[in-house]
Amino acid sequence: MKNYIRQTKSLLCLGVTAAIVFASGCNQSVMTAGRDTAPSQAENIDVWPTLDIEVKRSAEDEARVKALLADMTLEQKIAQMIQPEIRDITVEDMRRYGFGSYLNGGGAFPNNNKHSTPQDWIALAESMYQASVDASLDGSSIPTMWGTDAVHGHNNVIGATLFPHNIGLGAANNPALIEEIARVTATEVMVTGIDWVFAPTVATVQDDRWGRTYESYSENPRIVHDYSRAIVRGLQGAPDDDFLGDSRVISTVKHFIGDGGTVGGDDQGNNVDSERDLFEIHGQGYVGGLSAGAQSVMASFNSWHGKKLHGDKYLITDVLKDKMGFDGFVVGDWNGHGQVKGCDNTSCPQAANAGLDIYMVPTDAWKPLYENLIQQVKDGVIPMSRIDDAVTRILRVKVRAGLFEKPSPAKRQFSGKTELIGQESHRAVAKQAVRESLVLLKNTNQVLPLSPNMNVLVAGDAAHNIGKQSGGWTITWQGTNNTNEDFPGGSSIFDGIQEQVNAAGGTATLNEAGEYTVKPDVAIVVYGEEPYAEGHGDREHLDYQRGSKSDLALLKKLKAENIPVVSVFISGRPMWVNAELNASDAFVAAWLPGSEGDAVADVLFTDQQGEIQHDMSGRLSFSWPATPTQATVNLNDEDYTPLLPYGFGLSYGDENTLSSNLNEDYEVSAKDSSGRAIFTGTLQQPWELWLMSGSSRLPVTASTASLDGLKYRTVDRLVQEDAFRLSFDTSETGAGVQIASKSFFREDMYAQGKNNAVLSVMFKTESAIPDEVLLGMNCESEGDPVGSCNGQVDISDLLKNLAPETWSEISIDARCFTEQGVKFENMVAPFQLTSKEKLSLSISDIAFKFEKADTADMICPSA
Ligand code: BGC
Ligand code: BGC
Repeated sequence: MKNYIRQTKSLLCLGVTAAIVFASGCNQSVMTAGRDTAPSQAENIDVWPTLDIEVKRSAEDEARVKALLADMTLEQKIAQMIQPEIRDITVEDMRRYGFGSYLNGGGAFPNNNKHSTPQDWIALAESMYQASVDASLDGSSIPTMWGTDAVHGHNNVIGATLFPHNIGLGAANNPALIEEIARVTATEVMVTGIDWVFAPTVATVQDDRWGRTYESYSENPRIVHDYSRAIVRGLQGAPDDDFLGDSRVISTVKHFIGDGGTVGGDDQGNNVDSERDLFEIHGQGYVGGLSAGAQSVMASFNSWHGKKLHGDKYLITDVLKDKMGFDGFVVGDWNGHGQVKGCDNTSCPQAANAGLDIYMVPTDAWKPLYENLIQQVKDGVIPMSRIDDAVTRILRVKVRAGLFEKPSPAKRQFSGKTELIGQESHRAVAKQAVRESLVLLKNTNQVLPLSPNMNVLVAGDAAHNIGKQSGGWTITWQGTNNTNEDFPGGSSIFDGIQEQVNAAGGTATLNEAGEYTVKPDVAIVVYGEEPYAEGHGDREHLDYQRGSKSDLALLKKLKAENIPVVSVFISGRPMWVNAELNASDAFVAAWLPGSEGDAVADVLFTDQQGEIQHDMSGRLSFSWPATPTQATVNLNDEDYTPLLPYGFGLSYGDENTLSSNLNEDYEVSAKDSSGRAIFTGTLQQPWELWLMSGSSRLPVTASTASLDGLKYRTVDRLVQEDAFRLSFDTSETGAGVQIASKSFFREDMYAQGKNNAVLSVMFKTESAIPDEVLLGMNCESEGDPVGSCNGQVDISDLLKNLAPETWSEISIDARCFTEQGVKFENMVAPFQLTSKEKLSLSISDIAFKFEKADTADMICPSA
């Protein structure tokens, strides 16, 4: 799978077949309106405070940095600003260029081997370091540094202690524990010779549809503020506590700024908050973390009022550096500079000029970017003073971190001490966090805590699945394709139940489907969301399992058999689970507990004497929604009507407050009730148009485009340029056009697959019609963001029947696609038209229309 991820990424950049692709690596400049064009957003620097930063500048360090800088060539300086990825550079590249830093992305491992040992990690760190200080080729001997996403423990490394994701830690509301988690994480990271961690994420998420909600501690800026400070102290130490000493790593507060507040919870989207809210809601993690001395900040993919953060000089330079007083460096996010208006991945002086100090440039874009930056300085596009400032900041952090004195990565204090990875004392910290993160939402008749001396049935597909309970950013980027064997030393939730029950003389039986031979005393059902990361986790509503409700069926079956049901719900966000709550006697929100699933049982069960071992102490750090569309319900809203408020959580013995008659009516959003337009002369959000030829893909961004023999141009139907013409040439592999979602993230079009819906397209044929013209759709297969599903129908007969040179509608029953396995709730590309023969036609409105299936031009199943 790792190879597949790697492949699809580079393939997309060439632009290739797989319709599920990761957009992050590619050259797409995204046009943004807003503050770029019309500076409508008032900028008020007084909103931002000057921070009292605990780490002070020392004259000695500054003199040293100055002396280093004075000896550097332009090429050496630019190399400090380039951060390539381990899949795209060799040790020889490091020797030749002397990059200031490098990273491994999520699911990137030494030698491309998921099962790399700590020794393999150290070996790579050591070679890269030695190459960077070897002055034989580039003349410089400045130690490089390696950055990694250790976002819930050292999560790319097999056997590491994996903590609950941030959302669960938020429910624990225990900053001292959080500092300890960060200290442990720093230790495990140092065992592998790595210097720098891309954490904490301090997004204060306001819309729970965002796929990164679980990376957020809370919707409440106060918790984010306090945790940011605690994490930074745990990772880096503090001036009064081993600051960046031998057992510490550099931290990164990310993603600056406003990532948790985009419209619709859209990953990499647009934040339109006022400047006051930007500071008071989204800025508090920076106040906490930077005051504690965090040495780096990562720029965010999102925009503020239409302007991408990577190019926002006001926020990066005027606010963060000048006003708040941050004197470390600002690193970019995964080719984020390529999204700035006028930029692509290989060229973006705008970002440096805005104040970006390090370009995170995975893929092979690093080389042209490096060359272009050098040229842009020579041409005066980027002032030398800006480069000197960036490099000063990078060197300042390296000096503070002692990188010039510390031994090489293989010789450091913890290097190679593999017994520290997943050490028992570390797991004990994680187990405490798991226990404290559980939030008890419902407890009818005091079903919980359970006595261990019982016949317990354990059901649900998350009961014995460490990967699923750990979520995204777990060994692989998306957290998918892991098995329990990938977590040596870890435990599932079932493991813990079995241990407690067996020790007390009861019986625990695992059966995912809830089957049994002897009727159990109680059923614990563990179920929830499949893992996801970043935009792949974006959703349009919070309805759990809309369309399948298979877990609800399991709960209902057990209830019907008169078995008390305890739900343990695994999720990266609060979700609308009214029906599941109604079908449960007790309900525990367990979030994404990580590798120490057995600790859940410490709380569910009493000891053998019937005494509570650990009470339920977690409290909601996110408000729990009353409806599937209540995604932006947040503490302090004027009209605050969640199902369960921020801070809610029962302790044992507390009276149950939730009824078992919660409203289960499916709520249809306006968008879902009236069909859905895809192209109405312009593309609707979030769709993008691509030409396809064989294995190449080209995004269409202008009025004409061509790819191999296929030509595209806009034409007029009712008004100017509200349609487009396609001229296909013969092509052995087929060519065509596809409309796919932005970044190929899945869109929930569940309603468009139902309601007797049709796909309706306006066509005008302008040539003879070949014997095969395929209309297809592409979706993401369930639970696997990199897998895909397809369906297609041949519409050549329908086209042949149209009057030539005349606009006419063709409608196709949505069931023609669903019966081939297309999942509308996971839609990626709802329209793909391909031909292998010469063909010329024009296309206008494309839409899903309801209640028309019976009169469609193509009806399925064909009766
Ligand atoms: C994410 C960052 C992460 C980086 C490196 C990006 O896509 O937004 O949070 O640090 O990748 O993996
Ligand atoms: C890469 C991951 C990386 C992610 C960041 C993916 O394409 O495979 O390693 O963390 O992009 O967005």
